[in-house]
Amino acid sequence: MTRTPIIGGNWKMNTDRAAGLALAKAVAAGVSTGTKSEVAIYPPFPYLPLISEALCATGSQVILGAQDVYHAEKGAFTGEVSVAMLKDVGCRAVLTGHSERRHVLHEGDDLINMKTLAALNGGLICTLCVGETLHQREVNETDHINERQLRAGLRGVTAAHLDRLVIAYEPVWAIGTGKTATPADAQNAHSHIRAVLADLFGNDAAAKIRIQYGGSVTAANAAELMKQPEVDGALVGGASLKPDDFVAICKAAGG
Ligand code: PGA
Repeated sequence: MTRTPIIGGNWKMNTDRAAGLALAKAVAAGVSTGTKSEVAIYPPFPYLPLISEALCATGSQVILGAQDVYHAEKGAFTGEVSVAMLKDVGCRAVLTGHSERRHVLHEGDDLINMKTLAALNGGLICTLCVGETLHQREVNETDHINERQLRAGLRGVTAAHLDRLVIAYEPVWAIGTGKTATPADAQNAHSHIRAVLADLFGNDAAAKIRIQYGGSVTAANAAELMKQPEVDGALVGGASLKPDDFVAICKAAGG
């Protein structure tokens, strides 16, 4: 099964208006040739309309995504942003279940599930992030945690949603720490994730779902990670703020 790799740049709470615009333009220009992967960027909410316009103006294929979404359609939810609002400003993708939302903002599996379902029902590409903490890894719970987060996060997801579903395996201990899972560790975790997806959706459907690796991916380690048969791209934080590095990661995928 050949899956088109997908590389995401999660900018987190970084950049300002001018730096974000410049970064988006540099990425769009850098990946306009020589990459076989799909490329998505996830800027902070306030800069989405501006960056959407800039990507449209150049006819870029770069997918614009948001770092979060709320599941309700509208109403009294102070501070939240709906699927329709994201689509209205040109977003085609969203992240759910990112470890910083789980562990810093204390989002639980039920909320993550509702967000995931709302995003998929609304037609967005949704990347559901899963991954174990250092302690969970040390007590050999990696597969168990990934499975629990997958089964809970994907409750209610059906075959009709699957072409827009992406999974990101992001071991919490590797995010922003400079520590990366070895290619073999990533391959093992991804194989188990695909087995869970097969149990949920059947072998054929599971074989088509992209599974990204995330956690201190750099231009130096991306190619080795993405050579693993079960690693279908990367979700990149720190290195996505440096256009040359991010473009190099995009070109390392499927190259
Ligand atoms: P990192 O972040 O590349 O800075 O480790 C990855 C992520 O949080 O998606």
